[in-house]
Amino acid sequence: MSELKNPSKYLGNELVYLEKVLNSEFWSATTGNWNQTLEKAFAERMGTKFGVALNSGTSTLHAALEAAGVGPGDEVISPAITVIMNTTATIHANAVPVYCDVDPDTFNMDPNKLEKLITPKTKAIIPVAIYGLPCDLDPILEIAKKHNIVVIEDNAQCFLGTYKGRLAGTLGHMASFSFENTKHISCGEGGIIITDNEKYAEMVRKIGGHGFKNLRAEEGRVRLNADVFQSPHYKRHDVIGWNYRLSEFLAAVAYAQLERIDDLVELRVKSAQYFIDIMTSECDYLIPQRTPEGYSNSYYTLGVKYIGEEKIGVKWEEFRKAYVEAGGDGFYGAWSVPYLEPVMTERKFVKRLPDVYKDVYYQQGLCPVAEQIQPLLQQWKSNYRSLDLAKHKAEILRTVIKRFKNR
Ligand SMILES: Cc1ncc(COP(=O)(O)O)c(C=O)c1O
Repeated sequence: MSELKNPSKYLGNELVYLEKVLNSEFWSATTGNWNQTLEKAFAERMGTKFGVALNSGTSTLHAALEAAGVGPGDEVISPAITVIMNTTATIHANAVPVYCDVDPDTFNMDPNKLEKLITPKTKAIIPVAIYGLPCDLDPILEIAKKHNIVVIEDNAQCFLGTYKGRLAGTLGHMASFSFENTKHISCGEGGIIITDNEKYAEMVRKIGGHGFKNLRAEEGRVRLNADVFQSPHYKRHDVIGWNYRLSEFLAAVAYAQLERIDDLVELRVKSAQYFIDIMTSECDYLIPQRTPEGYSNSYYTLGVKYIGEEKIGVKWEEFRKAYVEAGGDGFYGAWSVPYLEPVMTERKFVKRLPDVYKDVYYQQGLCPVAEQIQPLLQQWKSNYRSLDLAKHKAEILRTVIKRFKNR
């Protein structure tokens, strides 16, 4: 077979738009239009009123927590199978991370385990659509409503995934997306919050934009009236903020990618399906993430539970090695359960706010399902931009499975 290659990541208008930014005077969100163009188009595509673009899918989470009024000593619940950023954003908001165990088949937050974690201090819940699969949001939203808690959907890995016919990311109070290098649409680093709530949108923008008082839910430019802005008597800031702004170059690239979002998502979904078909027909030890009836998975990556050690006596690493040596692409394990990362077990957060964190400890056993499945999980590559290439790699998997069968 002639060599198959993954086509370029920028097959659209990226270069055209980048040149436009270069040729303009306006390279920052404080003056240019590309952030606004991206925000409007993204919010419209998702069906929400507002979009606020920031420089990562972590700064969006932090800004959203602050906008929701989360502060010192409050508690924020996120799942136990996820990246560290839900935890660190919570700590940056001076709040205490609380972990909800997961469903063993969908790997997402288990709503049955949620309510018992709620205390008078719980201010926010962050359901994470892990690997691209929306969470079971109805019961989560019901619990949140009952206890007056803000829900921030973390859709960093989930673009256009659906839940009971509704677009994931439009169901909570706010939703956060990432444009980091590996995401469905990307500009290297970046992120966006979408919401229907004008107050949240305005606060997210202010928190991400140095707290300039003239920032609005729909307006990220600050120097709108030079006569006012240039006056020595002008007072600019009414909120403590950070500089989380997205550069105009990156907004332009993200916008070009957004123009192709349907194709980019479809490529991942179809690529994942080749592997799923082979995994489910050829063996009983590669168990793909369960996508419940009525959901669609956007397959940021193909999450798989590997039970080959138990079924055929082949260790996780041995199976990976065999697949890679046969010409397959390496797959990742799942990140550690966040509270078992050294930064958490060694309590590196205590010195930030000793009064708040003095009694906060994390240890093994907190979320038993997550701890049991985490070492078994595999994240298979789904970001093939050539379906022929995806099919070719999936066929390599078939041969590896057959080889282990015939040993
Ligand atoms: C679920 C989830 N949340 C948040 C983030 C943080 O996004 P970023 O890398 O853009 O800061 C990521 C990125 O890997 C993610 O996968």
